[in-house]
Amino acid sequence: MTYKLPTDSRLQQPSFLFGVATASFQIEGARDSRLACIWDTFCATPDKIRDGSNGFVACDHLRLFREDVALIASLGVDAYRLSISWPRVMHADGSLNQQGVDFYIALLDELKAHNIKAFVTLYHWDLPQHLEDKGGWLSRETAYKFAEYADKISLALGDRVYSWATLNEPFCSGYLGYEVGIHAPGLKSKAYGRQASHHLLLAHGLAMPILRKNCPQALIGIVLNFTPAYPLTDSAADKRAAELADEYFNQWYIKPLFDKAYPDSFANLGEATPTILAGDFAIIAQPLDFLGINFYTRAVYQADAEADFQQVDLPDVVRTDIGWEIYPQAFTDLLVSLQQKYPLPPIYITENGCAAADILTNGEVADQMRLDYYQQHLLAVDQAIRQGVDVQGYFAWSLMDNFEWAEGYSKRFGIVYVDYTTQQRVIKQSGLAYRDFIQQRR
Ligand code: FCB
Repeated sequence: MTYKLPTDSRLQQPSFLFGVATASFQIEGARDSRLACIWDTFCATPDKIRDGSNGFVACDHLRLFREDVALIASLGVDAYRLSISWPRVMHADGSLNQQGVDFYIALLDELKAHNIKAFVTLYHWDLPQHLEDKGGWLSRETAYKFAEYADKISLALGDRVYSWATLNEPFCSGYLGYEVGIHAPGLKSKAYGRQASHHLLLAHGLAMPILRKNCPQALIGIVLNFTPAYPLTDSAADKRAAELADEYFNQWYIKPLFDKAYPDSFANLGEATPTILAGDFAIIAQPLDFLGINFYTRAVYQADAEADFQQVDLPDVVRTDIGWEIYPQAFTDLLVSLQQKYPLPPIYITENGCAAADILTNGEVADQMRLDYYQQHLLAVDQAIRQGVDVQGYFAWSLMDNFEWAEGYSKRFGIVYVDYTTQQRVIKQSGLAYRDFIQQRR
């Protein structure tokens, strides 16, 4: 069993990069000398995490990383996308925590020894709690702290890193964390959400030239997520609702990078208008070597008397175990539309994948839904490339089952199954198909 793509597909060429992705808090475990982060605090707050779990052990990757790199290598992938835990590598006084740094050096050296390119994200949501205590992303100062962290850690890790991404999904940090409160730190105000988002983008812009200076050989960029917005009907009102939702959830994070402005609906924020200083957009709109795109699903909207838009849950559609509709056409549409709107740099699909209620039986995980999902989404990427989008790589989310944020361990996204009681890893059928596809390509 393997994925099937047309023989003339760019995804068949050895230059197209295939990888697997994870993030620090979701897999590492082990507080050791790591400082507390906002997700530790959030997990310790009643009713925030569906299964009441936390990141103390997770996949125990801090201890099992050599085995995990061997596992990654056994899949035959070209690259591994990981993130660095800011509170593991920086002391509260802003100096490097050598014990934490040494872990990433060992991990990156292990990857290099297996000839696997490291795509490293600096911020995948685990803000040090001591910075949250001073206002977190609501404070402009946090953006400058991020730039200092980027400076020190990039110098320490140097050319072990093939690609740096500043942020993972500022939408999630800003909107989910500060506007609707379903992610850490759990704050709930539109004004907070918009301000946090602005400071996140500022942090990105401040870090970019530093990374470029410290690591001139590396590919440097940012990772954004998109949930394309579709109107429920063809009515002008529904179309307008979808457009406004698209501005608010998607374009908000990409437009400033290229156009030095927020979408037009920024003008309607009223009391939620964030403070933006003169020169901020010039800082944010740094040239990018690549744009990372994370895609999972789409959303459907209709007009609403009270709000700009109302999301609708369509009945009778196929959904993954986390409730996200499977709609691969949106992936192609998204890539093509971004290409039309912005002067995009090369694109890497930095996340794409499917949650399923996997069961390990006789040493196997038959995850047919995930197999179908990957097959359809790889074809969707192929379609976008044929329509002129410069996609150069694709990462499956995730290497292995892990701590799925507010869902705890209840949702499995891995192409490798994790038995959390024994920490045993078992490659699922979707993962074996990934391995076989990559291998036949060579
Ligand atoms: C993305 C996150 C990633 C994972 C997937 C399912 O939004 O970047 O950490 O949780 O969703």
